[in-house]
Amino acid sequence: MTPSPRFADEIREAWLSFFEERGHKRVASSSLIPHDKSLLLTTAGMVQFKPFMLGEEKAPYRRATSVQKCFRTTDIDRIGITDRHFTFFEMLGNFSFGDYFKREALQWAWELVTEVWQLHPDRLWVTIFEEDDEAEQIWHELVGLKQERIIRRGKADNFWDMGAAGPCGPCSEIYYDRGDKFGSGASPADDETRYVEIWNLVFMEFLRDDAANVVGELPQKNIDTGAGLERVAMVLQGADSVFEVDTTLPILKEAQRLTGVRYRSSESSDVSLRVLTDHARASAFLIADGVFPSNEERGYVLRRIIRRAVRHARLLGAEGDVLTALALATVEVLGGAYPELKKQAALIERVCRTEESRFKDTLATGLEHLEQALERLSPGDVLSGEVVFRLHDTYGFPVDLTREVAQERGVAIDEEGFNAHMAEQRRRARQAKRAQGSGVSEEALGVFKEHLDRFGPTAFSGYERLEDRAKIVAIVRDGESLEMAGVGEVVEVLTDKTPFYGEAGGQVGDVGRIATETGEASVIDTTHPLFELTSHRVRVEKGALFRDQGAHLVVDAVKRLRTTRHHTATHVLHWALREVLGTHVKQAGSLVAPDRLRFDFSHFEQVRPEELFQVEQLANSKVIADQPVITFETTKDEAERLGALAFFGDKYGEIVRVVQAGDFSRELCGGTHVHALGEVGPVLVLSEGSIGSNLRRIEAVSGEAAVKRMLSDRRLLSGSAATLKAAPEKLMERVDQLLAELKAAQTETRRMRERLASQQAATIASSTQVSDVKGVRFVVYHLDDTAEGLRDTALRLRDSHGIDISVLGGVHGGRVHLVAVSSKRAVEAGLQAAQILAGPARLVGGGTGKNPELAVGGGPNTSALGSALDAARKEILDSLKSAR
Ligand code: SER
Repeated sequence: MTPSPRFADEIREAWLSFFEERGHKRVASSSLIPHDKSLLLTTAGMVQFKPFMLGEEKAPYRRATSVQKCFRTTDIDRIGITDRHFTFFEMLGNFSFGDYFKREALQWAWELVTEVWQLHPDRLWVTIFEEDDEAEQIWHELVGLKQERIIRRGKADNFWDMGAAGPCGPCSEIYYDRGDKFGSGASPADDETRYVEIWNLVFMEFLRDDAANVVGELPQKNIDTGAGLERVAMVLQGADSVFEVDTTLPILKEAQRLTGVRYRSSESSDVSLRVLTDHARASAFLIADGVFPSNEERGYVLRRIIRRAVRHARLLGAEGDVLTALALATVEVLGGAYPELKKQAALIERVCRTEESRFKDTLATGLEHLEQALERLSPGDVLSGEVVFRLHDTYGFPVDLTREVAQERGVAIDEEGFNAHMAEQRRRARQAKRAQGSGVSEEALGVFKEHLDRFGPTAFSGYERLEDRAKIVAIVRDGESLEMAGVGEVVEVLTDKTPFYGEAGGQVGDVGRIATETGEASVIDTTHPLFELTSHRVRVEKGALFRDQGAHLVVDAVKRLRTTRHHTATHVLHWALREVLGTHVKQAGSLVAPDRLRFDFSHFEQVRPEELFQVEQLANSKVIADQPVITFETTKDEAERLGALAFFGDKYGEIVRVVQAGDFSRELCGGTHVHALGEVGPVLVLSEGSIGSNLRRIEAVSGEAAVKRMLSDRRLLSGSAATLKAAPEKLMERVDQLLAELKAAQTETRRMRERLASQQAATIASSTQVSDVKGVRFVVYHLDDTAEGLRDTALRLRDSHGIDISVLGGVHGGRVHLVAVSSKRAVEAGLQAAQILAGPARLVGGGTGKNPELAVGGGPNTSALGSALDAARKEILDSLKSAR
């Protein structure tokens, strides 16, 4: 019989070939950075196969086997305390995508464990999901395992999911009994140290949602198994823990050497040595796969484990860069199986060293303060949120670490208080930001000044080229100079030279990309925090950028060209405005962007439309003539002699740059410009207005933006012409004609209304409904008309027919309209129109005004019209009765 595998290399190979012989495709480990967006890091062998299990993607093979790099954050706090948990570990796996199921999976597992690994069946136990009779039957009847070795457990232990929405299912685990040296439990159910889980077999047949509810069955039944390589090695090598096998022990030994502390000399130093071993391995693998320390997501996970390792190295009394050295030891130990470690060795060293040395300083000061605070507390006390916050805010001491150190003394931290302080700080930061606008803080300015002194001005190559190679001389964030910036971070990057145009003279800063050997960032803006210094505001999107690295800088050419067109157009418009309006026109400011330009200038009145039209015409004639645009440098005096225009708000040195457009415009300008005027394309002024006394602003577009605008204007024009049934060139005529027709129709309507009102008034005045009480003539009358119709009629009743009070009411347009008019005489007698109408208006669901002579009211209640009119009549009669 061939001997059982022993070392990791042998275990991996034996596993893969065992399953290969059984029709499985050997698949390489996927990256620790998963494609699956629901996970931060790859946590299991099945992660790369998830779409196959869900049936979302057709699997190119029905069976697969792999050795997967895994990282689990769930156990971070346990690392070091137990002898079998890791953040990073290797997982041996075999998978079926709708192919074989339970029977084969369990039988093969047994075969591999007992025949390949040659573990004695007496030492093996299995667990199954409490409802899974089928698994029990297979283990007992087909495999031949004794009933008492099969333990049923509930959902918490034997139902596996990814911790996120996705495939899930009951599982069966294989345990190995390490003997009574490790514990006295009777079975895996009560002792998971002595009985160590070595293999988990999941029967993936269900689907769960985000809230961990099982929501259905998968379209197919899958198998997903995972065995922790280090645990298997521990058993096969007879090691006491997973930290003492051939993929970990050399690192642990190196940790002992560097710290001078022996393993197994004390419980607490053992924890630290184990933490160092695990975190160093994990850091090396994470960095090799492209994770960099940062304050977000997986970058934060890496930062956290590096910092935790640094603290444990310190606890052991070590001074040097222990974590860095151990990460490099990892490259030695595992670089054969994982060539990416070797390939990225330099990067691993650099990232670890940067983060480690940076944090060592923070740690020393922070710990000192924390110690002082803890001295005053005893176990069971709570460390105030304010202290935790101050440690975080002033000393950059991570809250995780504060929690951990406090916990070691039996002290809890006031999480709520800490969060409240954090929230308050965020609020203050927001306020400060608002107050400060986009300006650079004093602190940041200091850093920039220092860089300018040290490295001199940034050379600008962007007049000639849009791509360049340069060196990163500084990375700055919040006034702090950094060694590096990782994914997700937004920082200022300074280079020795740059093709990026920094915002100046109204022209917006360039955007684009910066790439280095280790990372990529998008440039969101380019500015001059100081006159001669260019700063790229970037968001790191891949990997990390480091100080002193060579970088490839690429300007977004499309945006730059659009901006450039607008800049030259600004010069042309400036010239044209002076031609048309006079030389008193002086530039007072401008904005030159990819999509538009804005030009502010001095002028004493509104620019008339025909003047604007002239300006546009002149500008476009210059563009079409396509004369060259040239730039040259000269002395300030010479430029002045040449009549070059210089403007408000711009700073100029002794040597100035002159932009000469054709033979007509010369301006001092540092901006980017086209080489021939034709490139500007059409120039369109979109608006003109006042922005202050004697200050005007025009907005204009050129190039693509102008073409786009003209095309959409033309669509609008032809659309309108079609609607009005006119040829586009006859549109104005047609509109004038329609306006005239409309006016005539309105006059006619008014005339008709008046005639109608007088007819209605005559009819009402001669009706029997006009009453006379005590010499007061009044009428209440039902008339269906518009509110205006009622009003005109009522006024006529008063003015032409001598009626003192008329109340008219009727329905029009689905609403009740009511009008009351009182003569002067009636008002004097106490019969005010508003008062008379108030009650009736309420009845129809509305109100009325306060005018004593004329009240208009109404409401939606059409069925109440009759009673409203009756009420009006009663009101008049009652008032008359009480009148003198
Ligand atoms: N996905 C399961 C686990 O991680 C089996 O591989 O335990």
